[in-house]
Amino acid sequence: MKLLLLGSGGREHALAWKIAQSPKIEKLYIAPGNAGTQNVGENIAIKADDFEAIKAFVVANDINMVVVGPEDPLVKGVYDFFKEDEALKNVPVIGPSRTGAVLEGSKEFAKEFMMRHNIPTAGYKSITADNLEEGLAFLETLEAPYVLKADGLCAGKGVLILPTLEEAKKELKEMLGGMFGGASATVVIEEFLSGIECSVFVLTDGKNYKILPEAKDYKRIGEGDKGLNTGGMGSISPVPFANKEWMQKVEDRIIRPTVEGLATEGIDYKGFIFFGLINVKGEPMVIEYNVRMGDPETESVMLRIKSDLVELFEGVAAGNLDEKTLEIDERAAVCVMLVSGGYPEAYDKGYAITGLNEVKDSIVFHAGTSLKDGQVVTAGGRVIAVSSYGANKEEALAQSFAGAQKINFEKKYFRSDIGFDL
Ligand code: AMP
Ligand code: GLY
Repeated sequence: MKLLLLGSGGREHALAWKIAQSPKIEKLYIAPGNAGTQNVGENIAIKADDFEAIKAFVVANDINMVVVGPEDPLVKGVYDFFKEDEALKNVPVIGPSRTGAVLEGSKEFAKEFMMRHNIPTAGYKSITADNLEEGLAFLETLEAPYVLKADGLCAGKGVLILPTLEEAKKELKEMLGGMFGGASATVVIEEFLSGIECSVFVLTDGKNYKILPEAKDYKRIGEGDKGLNTGGMGSISPVPFANKEWMQKVEDRIIRPTVEGLATEGIDYKGFIFFGLINVKGEPMVIEYNVRMGDPETESVMLRIKSDLVELFEGVAAGNLDEKTLEIDERAAVCVMLVSGGYPEAYDKGYAITGLNEVKDSIVFHAGTSLKDGQVVTAGGRVIAVSSYGANKEEALAQSFAGAQKINFEKKYFRSDIGFDL
């Protein structure tokens, strides 16, 4: 089959790497891809949300399936665009409909959905300029720290955690006043939950689901989880506290009610669901939903899927995912992210990357790279993910750290304490 994957980050390189291993794949295209994805498929210069250009390419090249990496095209309705188009309606899109993508696109919608289906999550109140007083009063009932979330997509920046009531009240007013534009016209105020986070992923055909390996990501720039939030500095799978008993709770209280809830509400959902969970004294609770795989979690999760991912996608498209098998590698897999100095604040691009071919015992996924005159150069904040297997996370991490030393570019930085808290 001919498959088109949308996206350009480390997540997409890891998905492309896994998809390309399928004997079913005759041709894999990545739009737009990066300097790494071209080693496992063919990059095409189309943006992941340019639906008309995607349509022209799919029709001209007889594409049989489209897999969507990032949330943006999903929230903009790429699934519906295909379904409603005469020329495209028979090409399955792996990813939810626009209505399904609202689980990530609106924090308020996600909260209301969880309430309707009794899915454990933090207590909350949804506030606009019209009921600001109610918001201020709700903050008074909570204990510090205070969690404020812009309702809409803000490229991962829309959540503020504030140490004092005074700051929370001030920031609430600023958010409603347009701090994140229209995305914060509604703000969700949440009770703060204390615990360790874990990302759980499922692939669903709308009725059946397969639970993929879970992972933990490391969001802060600094060692010891200090400093600014990033897109993610590394990941580990499996997560020790996500044992059989805990995962059973996750399935019974969170996964099944979510998939059934989507179905009973008539929401068309064929794709990945990412449950951002937190372990509160042994009990899993939902922090957020995403409608795609995590990045950098995918760069460890894909290593642990033994089965043919494309066959699973076929099950998603055909609605018979229950007839497919998902075999998981028992080994640990980790990823260590190499980033540009300065990230997540201002950083420079265009530095030559060397040593990529010297890494033999890890899998090198490109995140923010491009080709300039035949040379791989940095093109983003997160640049390269070094992923490794090991009998345990310590062994896998040692491999990734060794690989991280061999790859060089100016102002390279990585966290050498990934996994420290587990
Ligand atoms: P989100 O974009 O919803 O994933 O939030 C970003 C980060 O803020 C999460 O990964 C958590 O670390 C933190 N966070 C969000 N909501 C809460 C909460 N209710 N309690 C504690 N931490 C939270
Ligand atoms: N690693 C978190 C995310 O992809 O949103």
